[in-house]
Amino acid sequence: MDTNKTLMLPGAKSTIAGDVDSLFNFILYTTGAIFILVVVVMMYFAIRYRQRSGKAEVTSGRDYNHVLEVIWTVIPSILVMVVFFWGFKVYMKMNIIPRDAIEIKVTGQKWFWTFDYDEGINIVNELVIPVDTPVKLLMSSQDVIHSFFVPSFRTKMDVLPNRYSLLWFESTEVGEYDLFCTEYCGKGHSEMIGKVRVLPKVEYEKWLVESAVEDTTTPLAELGEQLFKKKACFTCHSIDGSRLVGPSFKGIFGNPVKHNDGTTATVDENYIRESLLDPQAKVVDGFAPVMPTYQGQLTDREIDGIAAFIKTLK
Ligand code: CUA
Repeated sequence: MDTNKTLMLPGAKSTIAGDVDSLFNFILYTTGAIFILVVVVMMYFAIRYRQRSGKAEVTSGRDYNHVLEVIWTVIPSILVMVVFFWGFKVYMKMNIIPRDAIEIKVTGQKWFWTFDYDEGINIVNELVIPVDTPVKLLMSSQDVIHSFFVPSFRTKMDVLPNRYSLLWFESTEVGEYDLFCTEYCGKGHSEMIGKVRVLPKVEYEKWLVESAVEDTTTPLAELGEQLFKKKACFTCHSIDGSRLVGPSFKGIFGNPVKHNDGTTATVDENYIRESLLDPQAKVVDGFAPVMPTYQGQLTDREIDGIAAFIKTLK
């Protein structure tokens, strides 16, 4: 896993992470050294030229020194130029996407990530990628601005509605890394987290093949429970009765619910199906209409599975 942990930053696990860290450390240490120098000299002068009782000393009237002026203009200018050109070089490296990169579509929405692969796979909150391979992410948002951030890769990019943003990286070590949304996007923002799972190339190919096949053997309720985790339903719905963004699933099946328009209905298979495909049709009283539709993202068998799972939550 994350074996390379340091005091300040998580282990550097992408091809650009080392470049980012070198520049970061350069800025940190030069500004740190200048800070200490300024504070030390300031304290020395404060003590050296303090007002002493009994002596009305007149300080020097000198207010200009040519050599000092040149020194404190030239040295910072050189440092700023170094940081600019160094930063520009790293920036270019982060932004020029290799032609052979594999492309994955990323969708951010309140409050989860969806990853779509060309092979027809779509998963929530888990990005699976091969090691030592450039990966290009084509990203957009369904609602507000989110931001895709993998600290171990030193990579981060805003995810916008009505516009695509691109990000690429190449991971250098097999493992599991944290993924965060790093743009405040509403009350579920802190829950908008996921994992990046980096697999050896052979295992990635195997994973692609296995994931593309529809699961027809798992019992319905079990399939529903898997989907509850895989599709991140738990972000908004609890199964123990506690109140989250949406109503809890505990004990709702077979019981009446009240809607915000005053109507009531009994929760059954049809009700659950409609809630998944057209979530705004009936909104439970006291909750905001924020659920996204799962139209096109669930097969009929998967919808059956979710209903069967909710039925078990007595
Ligand atoms: Cu999405 Cu914060």
